[in-house]
Amino acid sequence: MDTLTPYEVEEKVLDEIVGKYKGSPGVLLSTLEAVQEANPLKFLPQKTLLQVAKKLNVPATQVYSVATFYSFFNLKPQGKHTIVVCRGTACHTKGSRELLNSVGQILGFRYEFDETEPSYTTPDNEFTIRTVACFGQCAQAPVVAVDGVIHSNVNAPKLLKILKKVKSSSYAKNQSK
Ligand code: FES
Repeated sequence: MDTLTPYEVEEKVLDEIVGKYKGSPGVLLSTLEAVQEANPLKFLPQKTLLQVAKKLNVPATQVYSVATFYSFFNLKPQGKHTIVVCRGTACHTKGSRELLNSVGQILGFRYEFDETEPSYTTPDNEFTIRTVACFGQCAQAPVVAVDGVIHSNVNAPKLLKILKKVKSSSYAKNQSK
């Protein structure tokens, strides 16, 4: 019998999700979204993709192409906090590359952002850093989103303040566990 790793979605939960969306339009997309949401690290492990394919009776290749086509699907574990730095032209000219480089330094981990990688997650799964092509708020460049909250006209001191707050709340939560 297969054992469940800590970051997989339980079979029972998978069955509930599949049952909920079966027969509805866009079943594969809705199912994958719900399954990713149910995963504690907000990603779709390979085993889960194969389980979804089997349960929905669709080819595994189709499941893989959907999971890799849409940028909101994650194939790697995600951190509890997400920091998204805009790398569009307006933000770039206002120093977003420097902001991106500062993230690791501010949060206190070794990190080199490779722009060919969609995201970087810290080994303790606390933070995921990713980039975006444009937030559509170029007039307020540079723009950074932290846990879904957009921050505009970000400079190094402002970024330091925002990330220190996130880091201390994350630390406090871990201490109270
Ligand atoms: S380029 Fe950054 S918001 Fe448009």
